Amino acid sequence: MLAIIGGSGLTQLSCLEISHRQIIRTPYGEPSGPLTFGKIRDRDIVFLARHGHGHTIPPHAINYRANLWALHSLQPSHVIAVASVGGIHADLAPGRLVVPDQIIDYTYGREFTYFGDKDQRVRHIDFTLPYSQITRVLLLQAAELAQEAVVKGGVYAATQGPRLETAAEINRLERDGADMVGMTGMPETALARELGLNYATIAVVANHAAGRGTNVTAIPLKEIYAVLEKAMVGVRTILEHVVSCHGD
Ligand code: HPA
Repeated sequence: MLAIIGGSGLTQLSCLEISHRQIIRTPYGEPSGPLTFGKIRDRDIVFLARHGHGHTIPPHAINYRANLWALHSLQPSHVIAVASVGGIHADLAPGRLVVPDQIIDYTYGREFTYFGDKDQRVRHIDFTLPYSQITRVLLLQAAELAQEAVVKGGVYAATQGPRLETAAEINRLERDGADMVGMTGMPETALARELGLNYATIAVVANHAAGRGTNVTAIPLKEIYAVLEKAMVGVRTILEHVVSCHGD
């Protein structure tokens, strides 16, 4: 089974033939919503809307631990996370799709680990390459098959939100090596690794980051949803091809 986490602009998957929905309770509380089960091209899919079905949960209030735990309980072969980002690198204009290969964490105050219990043996994870390489390759192959252009790597900066960044913050993120900025990549990516999931992200550039491109004095928030809606057509096509590429 393939698991898909939908972000802003992807609260449902129109290509999914839904069979049922299921509420899953976890030791960490409830996920963002019921899991939606169904098929794409005859393959089993489970879908979870990260911000809730009605897009009501802000990035810092998402129960990332419950979300990943619930998906892990189904033993998916891959978890594909869809996330919207602001483009910092000049190549990352609104509408572009990126499969990041690195991440930097600027978030705070979120429940970020399954390994924090005081009476548990101390556990660490290797996080040198934060995304699953096999899941990234699957996404890149699917994009090629679908003839959808994707940028094959980049550094994702995970910020706290829900506000967007200042221009100076974006300059700092760029100096740190970031190519794109989003609010949900962490702790989601690290929790996926703690659970041993094959997890990768397809990022959709919704806007130039603060101070970049045409957004010198402000980010036109009203335009973001139109950009996302258009770009999600490409994401859905890629997801359909992921299903064809992957063997389960
Ligand atoms: N900053 C942070 N997160 C985002 C942005 C942004 O500019 N655009 C979409 N998600």
